[in-house]
Amino acid sequence: MSFFTDLLSNNTSKKSLALPLVISAALLSACNGAPSNPDVKARQDMMKNWGDAMGVMGDMVKAPDTFDPEVFKEQAAFLANDAKNPWPHFEDESAVGHATKAVWSDADGFRSESENLQKVASELNAAAQNATSVADVEAEFKAVGGSCKSCHTDYKVKDD
Ligand code: HEC
Repeated sequence: MSFFTDLLSNNTSKKSLALPLVISAALLSACNGAPSNPDVKARQDMMKNWGDAMGVMGDMVKAPDTFDPEVFKEQAAFLANDAKNPWPHFEDESAVGHATKAVWSDADGFRSESENLQKVASELNAAAQNATSVADVEAEFKAVGGSCKSCHTDYKVKDD
């Protein structure tokens, strides 16, 4: 069978069936696969852990009778210590990930958001040290949540 008849016969139809599968697999991996750039991966992994820590603390804030001072303290300390770490991974402008262009075009604004997070996270950590109830940490917890959100508004691409 020549190349040409092969192309016209069953092989063509096989290809046209297989193609949509290949395309959707590629789209999935673009959205959910691990990013190949090490800076993007490092900062996304950190932010994911922050999301988990905020989730653990947020559940207690929502249901104050579940407040566990040791667990809350641990999460707040983790966040306060880790809050300085993602920013060096934003230096390379070609490592875009889900960052908006404003991270680099408005570097001062981005830096000030990152500094604000470090400040409010350390205030939350300080409040958590002697906290006996949600009331002792609620305002500081909300300030941290506000800081995450404020930075994401301008500097993180919106989720689909
Ligand atoms: C100074 C800005 C800034 C602050 C503050 C900030 N983030 Fe982010 N965050 C970003 C940017 C930019 C991205 C996109 C990173 C990327 O894809 O490369 C991001 C991404 C994320 C992601 C998605 C990670 C992924 O897997 O793609 C989560 C979750 C997240 N942030 C949680 C948080 C939480 C929780 C806080 C607060 C405790 C926080 N962020 C504070 C800028 C910030």
